[in-house]
Amino acid sequence: MKRFVVTTSHKPSKDQVIQARELAEKLGTDYIPRRRLKEIEVDFYYVVEKSRLSIKWPGGEFFFHPSAAILRMRNIRNGQRDYLIETLQPEGNEVVLDTTFGLGSEAILMAAFLPKGKVIGLEGSVHIYTVVKYGMKHFETDIKWLKEALKRIELYHTDFKRYVKEQPDNSFDVVYCDPMFENPVYASSAMNPLRPFAVYGTVNEDDVKEMLRIARKKVILKSHIKDSLFKRISMDELKGSRKSGVMYGVIYKQ
Ligand SMILES: C[S@@+](CC[C@H](N)C(=O)[O-])C[C@H]1O[C@@H](n2cnc3c(N)ncnc32)[C@H](O)[C@@H]1O
Repeated sequence: MKRFVVTTSHKPSKDQVIQARELAEKLGTDYIPRRRLKEIEVDFYYVVEKSRLSIKWPGGEFFFHPSAAILRMRNIRNGQRDYLIETLQPEGNEVVLDTTFGLGSEAILMAAFLPKGKVIGLEGSVHIYTVVKYGMKHFETDIKWLKEALKRIELYHTDFKRYVKEQPDNSFDVVYCDPMFENPVYASSAMNPLRPFAVYGTVNEDDVKEMLRIARKKVILKSHIKDSLFKRISMDELKGSRKSGVMYGVIYKQ
């Protein structure tokens, strides 16, 4: 386990200190006042700022920001194709299980198209879960669709492999899974700060069988064209940009 602590930004309010202490206790680590941070050796540290939570380490920083979702929504409104939304084909009232939440960019985009539905998100990394959960709760925005979409998302810290086995048949309309690529696209800068904390591992046939069992309509998987996923598991439909190599595969429930 890498060593980490929780601190605040410089000159914190009382509330920030309380929040930092509570978070440290929850994560089973120490709260360190900011002025004492330089005295200790850590791999990374949480910073409770005025209105956001970040993780910092030498040369890097990870915090929640929905910029990728905002950009994709702008592109959709400008008439561009979005292969996730095309494969989702939302009617508006679906309950979608996003098994690999990450920064939540795609969950936010999906939730924006589900005015009467919701997205249940799962994240296996405690650090990604903690930062993103806090970030979504405290994010302030005037963008109406984003504000509404954030309200339609629930996020849980759990391993999807175990979770999908425990759900009854047909529990969700759609199950979505976007595991870390075997061939990372480093140009996707939004994902880069998340990489050191992410859970890596392959999606196998048993996982997909369980996803299909708990889905009412379909399972959508995302993978890089060079990865093994779509070679190992056959899809009913594949959509995406061959140029970027990012593909969405769909398996429909019979
Ligand atoms: C490629 S990212 C997902 C990005 C996401 N679609 C977005 O729009 O931000 C994959 C995420 O799934 C998480 N993950 C990988 N395996 C998991 C598992 N077995 N259970 C839960 N989460 C997992 C990783 O920690 C990582 O945060």
